[in-house]
Amino acid sequence: MNTEFKTELKDIYNSESFREQGHKIIDILADYLSDATSNKVKYVLPPVSPDEMLKKWSNDFKEAPSENFEELIKKAIEYSHHLHSPNYIGHQIGPALPNGILAEIVGSMLSNGSAVYEMGPVNTILEKRIIEWMSQLIGYDNTADGFFTSGGTLGNLTALLAARQAKTGYDIWTDGVSENENLAVLVSEQTHYSSKRAIQIMGLGEKGAIPVATNEHYQMTLSSINDAYNSAVKSGKKVIALVANACSTATGTYDSLEEISEFCQEHDLWLHVDGAHGAPALISEKYRGLLKGIHLADSVVWDAHKMMLMPSLITAVIFKNGNNSYEAFSQKASYLFEKEATEEWYNLAQRTMECTKNMMGLKLYTSLMTYGTKFFGDYVTQMYDLTKECSEIISNSSDFELAMEPQSNIICFRFLNKDSRDTNVLQKMIRKEILKRGLFYIVQTTLRDKVYLRCTIINPLTTDKTFNDLLNEIRIIEKSVQ
Ligand SMILES: Cc1ncc(COP(=O)(O)O)c(C=O)c1O
Repeated sequence: MNTEFKTELKDIYNSESFREQGHKIIDILADYLSDATSNKVKYVLPPVSPDEMLKKWSNDFKEAPSENFEELIKKAIEYSHHLHSPNYIGHQIGPALPNGILAEIVGSMLSNGSAVYEMGPVNTILEKRIIEWMSQLIGYDNTADGFFTSGGTLGNLTALLAARQAKTGYDIWTDGVSENENLAVLVSEQTHYSSKRAIQIMGLGEKGAIPVATNEHYQMTLSSINDAYNSAVKSGKKVIALVANACSTATGTYDSLEEISEFCQEHDLWLHVDGAHGAPALISEKYRGLLKGIHLADSVVWDAHKMMLMPSLITAVIFKNGNNSYEAFSQKASYLFEKEATEEWYNLAQRTMECTKNMMGLKLYTSLMTYGTKFFGDYVTQMYDLTKECSEIISNSSDFELAMEPQSNIICFRFLNKDSRDTNVLQKMIRKEILKRGLFYIVQTTLRDKVYLRCTIINPLTTDKTFNDLLNEIRIIEKSVQ
């Protein structure tokens, strides 16, 4: 027996080394938090190409220890995207809250998988308690139920699988997709790509996602839904569901859920609301009206790593009728599940794509309890208010134009050049140069063939001054790009 090797394995869990290392890492993280939040990082997104980055990280894994842990962590931080910088106004992932970060570390240590209650007893219960709270905000009664999954993409797939099982008219999970059925789902032309991907994963094909045209605010209207539905039915499709945005990814637009739900009831369609980004507006007294009618949806997806400032990932999938939450994967793995499905509400993997999953509930539960729910409502209110202020700044600037008045904290605008340069090409060049200079991070989107610069104002430290500074940076850049 190799006793020397055994000793090394035992030493790996030495609690004093862990304490010492842990303190050092927390110090590094605290210094980083201070630098990032006060804009002392050199670049928001370090301008390093994928090929250059590849060269920075060797795959020379030696048999014996070869590198210093703190140095590796420092290097990872240095070259990462700095979401805590107030000048990070790009994608829809929020800068993680301190207690969320610390809870994530605890979750990593406990690593309680939560596939079945016995694997993660605390986490299973925390998940249930948060789902109850979210269900109340949605306006569901106590028959609602749900769970957490790893991201909005998986959340949309899970909800649509349940919709397919509930509305197809036969046991599609067991029998498979029948060619004769020609199933389809209505989706906004502004839907996040994950809904279309889910429809294709479900075997309905590209044509199974029926696009619904949107109006000047990028919202579906009843007449466009009607048109899309009628032409789908005419072409032999059996429409089973509709996916509404609350809010959409590109422009942050909320669909009119109340009137859409009436259409769905009339045509026996499952209404799924993709609230990955915008459902947390339910916590804001000022903005919850944007989601009027959400209680009529059959299912809702709600991400907490976007507008609830949780470290990624954590997504809630919530069903109006809790029994439907068992329909996505109505398969039994007998070694895991002992009794009838609903009797075992605490064995979450019957209802999720994942078997083992992260301890997602811990970070959100502890954050809700320690920061209080008002904090989260105020945060959403502040970000949505600030985005309106930014839209006024754009409206009052003759050299910029808005794609539309923002409804949420996503704003799309473009620089209006008065010379002969192609305006679309110019926006792309401006963004490229912004990233190269590294002072800000923003993204871009194309709406009806027009390219726009796009910001998600998601960092509580971002202010109107940040936005004004960005516009000035664009004005400087615009003169230098040809
Ligand atoms: C509306 C919407 N739905 C779904 C998703 C996918 O969420 P995730 O990135 O958590 O998979 C996004 C991501 O931006 C989104 O904006």
